[in-house]
Amino acid sequence: MAKFVPITVRLKSGEELVIREAAPEDAAALLDFVDQVSRESDYLTFGPGEFGITLEREQEFLETVRHKPNAIFLIGLLGHEVVASLSFAGGGRPRIAHVGEFGMSVRKAYWEMGIGTAMLKAFLDWARQTGVIRKVNLRVRVDNPRAIALYEKCGFRVEGRISREMQVNGKFYDTLLMGKAID
Ligand SMILES: CC(C)(COP(=O)(O)OP(=O)(O)OC[C@H]1O[C@@H](n2cnc3c(N)ncnc32)[C@H](O)[C@@H]1OP(=O)(O)O)[C@@H](O)C(=O)NCCC(=O)NCCS
Repeated sequence: MAKFVPITVRLKSGEELVIREAAPEDAAALLDFVDQVSRESDYLTFGPGEFGITLEREQEFLETVRHKPNAIFLIGLLGHEVVASLSFAGGGRPRIAHVGEFGMSVRKAYWEMGIGTAMLKAFLDWARQTGVIRKVNLRVRVDNPRAIALYEKCGFRVEGRISREMQVNGKFYDTLLMGKAID
């Protein structure tokens, strides 16, 4: 059985978003996507030119993720364009295999269209049916209300706050730890 059966979601705009698992062949498009989103907001853990992953390593990473039962890399496509990504990995040892963190982004031109919601719902549906994943966590900068609103809407709750977790242009930012049980 396929690990993740691709889905098509009709957006408020009427456009169709296809959500599927990323394959090693998507590595170049994903690195382009990463470069673009790194320029479009300040909220990620890397800025322009700071991602530091080669094409070969990205291909290997996507291949490895595909074979893990408790990890997934989802991409959202409008036509052939990658407009969103969501990456989750559970722990590598038995006691932490049920829990992991995800990170996600959407190209700025497509914010507020429901793409983030569709990606997160697709991920949570997948997580539920794995039978392995029982807790999903994330970190989000305290000054990122759009992302916090999305996570709260999808059932995540604040579980903690880490001070000075990011430093951008000499300024420190706190992050919130948010989590959701998968039952
Ligand atoms: C956060 C992000 C993934 C959201 O994606 P998106 O496709 O715009 O999300 P959606 O359109 O599905 O939903 C956004 C929600 O936030 C709400 N929102 C937007 N601005 C808001 C604000 N300032 N305060 C509160 N809510 C806000 C919208 O109303 C919408 O909720 P609704 O669908 O109930 O109306 C996207 O903005 C992004 O990639 N940001 C940059 C990278 C990033 O911050 N990633 C997360 C790191 S933890």
